[in-house]
Amino acid sequence: MHTEAPQKNLALDLVRVTEAAALACARWLGKGDKISADQAAVDAMRLCFNTLEIDGKVMIGEGEKDDAPMLFNGESLGLGNGPKVDIAVDPLEGTNLLAFGRPNAISVVGVAPAGAMFDPGPSFYMQKLVVPAQAKDVVDIEAPTGHNLKLIARALDKDVDDLVVFVLDKPRHKKLISEIREAGARIQLHTDGDVTGSLMAIDPRSEVDVMMGTGGTPEGVLSATAIRIMGGEMFAKLDPQKQDEKNALAEYGMDVRRVLTVNDLVKSEDLFFAATGISGGTFLKGVAYHGHGAETSSLVMRGKTGTIRYVEAIHNWDALMKFSAVEYD
Ligand code: FBP
Repeated sequence: MHTEAPQKNLALDLVRVTEAAALACARWLGKGDKISADQAAVDAMRLCFNTLEIDGKVMIGEGEKDDAPMLFNGESLGLGNGPKVDIAVDPLEGTNLLAFGRPNAISVVGVAPAGAMFDPGPSFYMQKLVVPAQAKDVVDIEAPTGHNLKLIARALDKDVDDLVVFVLDKPRHKKLISEIREAGARIQLHTDGDVTGSLMAIDPRSEVDVMMGTGGTPEGVLSATAIRIMGGEMFAKLDPQKQDEKNALAEYGMDVRRVLTVNDLVKSEDLFFAATGISGGTFLKGVAYHGHGAETSSLVMRGKTGTIRYVEAIHNWDALMKFSAVEYD
């Protein structure tokens, strides 16, 4: 595999990309229009990415699952005069969270050297088990839920009933939720947003200890980029929800029995990751607009150095107008 390492700390450029997308779409908070919100985020993100000195290719695009406006897989991004990189994007992760005014919608991007990112092919859904570093050697995604929770609790020096498990509130998780309850652990149920869930599971500042359940495959690769930088582990298995998806995976030659780790999902340590809060919540603050501009809260990380930055930014209104596809007044 040919990989060409990016020479520059792109992370600080990337935070401008996620800030631009967040600033552009946060106006749709609670307006019930996820398509317009997503379009605004996509347009702003593309505009901003195309000012960067990279020769990028979108490996993990967004939107195909529900015909949303896309930064499509294979799309070139950047000025084309820099390092060759794979890009994972989710300009608006949690379209319904934003549309219905719920917490934890974020804008998020990950960058790796060309060739390093897992190709999701026709896979939409992936089962995930995300744990902090202390618990990564004790869990097994194929083991019973209660057994894993016992071992995670021990590794974190907690009791099972101290644990908080992040789970997407989906009908497919009925059995998982009752197994977690039976084991005695506590649960945070979220309608959407398992990238945030994965980040919370490995962030010692968050009360979430573990993320369990099935969410998007693209979201899994994006989360893996951050997990590989921050430490912790994600165990994952492709988990097709419909026969069509199952058939497509078989045709593409993807093995649903294979257990993937972050090292399979991103095959390099030379990674960059940025996320900006949109709707606010327990993980990152949302966009706060005021008369002359707005404030944003972001997380920025670089794999080579392991530096993690929390960036609070104050944007003035004029600059904000340049990035946005939105009419502000
Ligand atoms: P969108 O931003 O594309 O709406 O995704 C939100 C999300 O909740 C992801 O966080 C998660 O991985 C995926 O959808 C789960 O898919 P589904 O809602 O189809 O179960």
